[in-house]
Amino acid sequence: MDKNLFDLRREYSMEELSESSVAADPIVQFGNWFEEYLNSEPREPNAFVLSTVDQNSNPTSRVVLLKGFDQNGFVFFTNYESKKARDLDANPNASLNFFWPELERQIRISGVADKTSLEESEAYFASRPRESQIGAWASKQSDVLSERKTLEDRVNDIRERFDGEIPCPPFWGGFRIVPSSFEFWQGRPSRLHDRIRYEKEAAGWRILRLYP
Ligand SMILES: Cc1cc2nc3c(=O)[nH]c(=O)nc-3n(C[C@H](O)[C@H](O)[C@H](O)COP(=O)(O)O)c2cc1C
Repeated sequence: MDKNLFDLRREYSMEELSESSVAADPIVQFGNWFEEYLNSEPREPNAFVLSTVDQNSNPTSRVVLLKGFDQNGFVFFTNYESKKARDLDANPNASLNFFWPELERQIRISGVADKTSLEESEAYFASRPRESQIGAWASKQSDVLSERKTLEDRVNDIRERFDGEIPCPPFWGGFRIVPSSFEFWQGRPSRLHDRIRYEKEAAGWRILRLYP
C-alpha cells in the first residue's frame, strides 16, 4: 500500500445535520442543498454519478448531468442505445450519487427509471447548442469506434444533412429517476458524520438517522 495515500485525509467541520433541521420532504431538502451548492460556485454543479446494473447484475457507474428535478423525479438525457440505457431497459433500478466536497456533503438517491415523454426530450434537445445536437446524431454512444476519424466523418455528414433546425434523434432522450429513498450525508469531525435517510412510505417520507 502507498504510505502517502495513508496520510491523505481531511477533517470535516463545516455544518451539522439533524432529523429536526431537515425538510420533511427530501426533494425540498435536495433543492435547499442544491441552491447552497450553486452558491459555492462549483465547476460542474449538476454532475452526478449514475449507477445501473445489467442483466447479469454487474454494476456500472458513470457521470451524467442533472437537467431537472421536482416531485416527479430526477431527469438526465442520453442516447437510448447506450450501455446505461440498455441496463435501465433490462433493470430500471438506479442509484444517483452527488458528491459536493466544497460543502463536505454527499447525497445518495435510489429509484426506478422511466423514459421522459417525447415532448420533454424534444424540448430539451431543441435547447442544446447546434454542435451538441450534431454530436448526438453522430455518436453511436457506447459502441466500439475503430478510429476517431470515423466519428469526425460522421459529424461532417450530419452537418451537411441538416441545414435548418435539427430534430431530436429517435434514439436519444431523457430518463426520469423516480426516487424511493434518499441519504443526506454531512461530514463531521473525527468521522462521526451525520447521515439522514428518507424512505418512501404510502403517505410521505419516513426520516431516520444512520450511524456514520
Ligand atoms: C461531467 C460529465 C458530464 C456528462 N454528462 C453526460 C450526460 O448528461 N449524458 C450522457 O449520456 N453522458 C454524459 N457524460 C458521459 C458519461 O459519463 C458516459 O461516458 C457516457 O454516457 C457513456 O456511458 P455508458 O456507456 O455507460 O452508457 C458525462 C461525462 C462527464 C464527465
